[in-house]
Amino acid sequence: MWNFRPKIHHLLLNLLNKINEMSKVKAAITAVAGYLPDFVLSNAELEKMVDTTDEWITSRTGIKERRILKGEGMGTSVMGAAAVEKLCQKRGIDPKEIELLICATVTGDMVFPATANVICDKVGATNAWSYDINAACSGFLYALSTASKFIEAGTHKKVVVVGADKMSSIIDYTDRATCVIFGDGAGAVLLEPNEEGFGIQDSLLKSDGSGRKYLFQKSGGSNYPPTIESVTNREHYVHQEGQAVFKFAVVGMADVAEEIMKRNNLTADDISWLVPHQANKRIIDATAKRCGLDDEKVMLNIHRYGNTTSGTLPLCLMDYEGQLKKGDNILLAAFGGGFTWGSIWLKWAY
Ligand code: UT7
Repeated sequence: MWNFRPKIHHLLLNLLNKINEMSKVKAAITAVAGYLPDFVLSNAELEKMVDTTDEWITSRTGIKERRILKGEGMGTSVMGAAAVEKLCQKRGIDPKEIELLICATVTGDMVFPATANVICDKVGATNAWSYDINAACSGFLYALSTASKFIEAGTHKKVVVVGADKMSSIIDYTDRATCVIFGDGAGAVLLEPNEEGFGIQDSLLKSDGSGRKYLFQKSGGSNYPPTIESVTNREHYVHQEGQAVFKFAVVGMADVAEEIMKRNNLTADDISWLVPHQANKRIIDATAKRCGLDDEKVMLNIHRYGNTTSGTLPLCLMDYEGQLKKGDNILLAAFGGGFTWGSIWLKWAY
């Protein structure tokens, strides 16, 4: 006689775990908005500024144009605040209802206070507490995951996550290796509790600070405070060893995306959309391939905005919002300076 008892017991336990998991409050994105500056810097324009060609930029990165925020006193908070204002209008809420606002950025208005504080002041989110997260191109993922915990814990009902960067403020427009890649922009999402099982399901985040030698801004921090020499030596700009970063990024981003699928028993058929960080079309293609996802499931706007660092993921969600359906399984993935990288699996809630 076969003894089926252990098997049934195991199945029941699994079922109970699933029910328990589903009945937990999840943090769901309930609105998305963004802001892109009007000024368009095209590849043709860059050809006049540095020794490059539209052909090189397009074939190596996939970028055609990027946006630049112009004007004195126009910092990252200008874009972040515009995104949050639109977000509140879309959801029909008063900014005073926001309880917490987290801003992911590497180009804060100032070293301190936090740009999140400034955004709250600008939009009138007077009841929110707020802080910045610096995780370079993975910043939005780090912030989204952190924010979700406040909703899941039941202590917060409305949390805003902003991903915003004015990369043009730290880019050397005489360095063809970096100036063609980056652009300015901001995206924002609202997180609210969801009891139907929609929202963030799992997140997998990683960092390895030994990668800092490949991608950094040397001066301006406490290691090397600003001096006349640091400015003369152009040390306040992004330094990137492109090929080295590429090698880590192309493996790292695909690894986490694949791992989060595996540990949640998700197949390529289960995934509706991949939302990849927009650093290089070749890295995006490699991640999609590893996950077994066809091009039509991959969100892409690198050709229009370049790499907006913390802004890429929410700006993708904004651009593709009209095509998303309630219950869609969405996989976000990023790799960036630090190194930092990670992936989030969520179920679209509206
Ligand atoms: O988002 C944060 C994480 N960052 C990334 O994920 C970026 C990862 N890296 C990359 O995306 C790529 O490495 C880049 C797009 C930055 C560079 O592409 P690449 O295919 O790795 O080029 P490379 O650095 O190996 O340079 C190849 C050649 C070099 O010339 P030589 O030495 O072969 O004569 C460069 O000097 O291309 C030259 N080059 C350019 N040529 C025309 C570099 N930049 C340019 C340019 N236009 N803008």
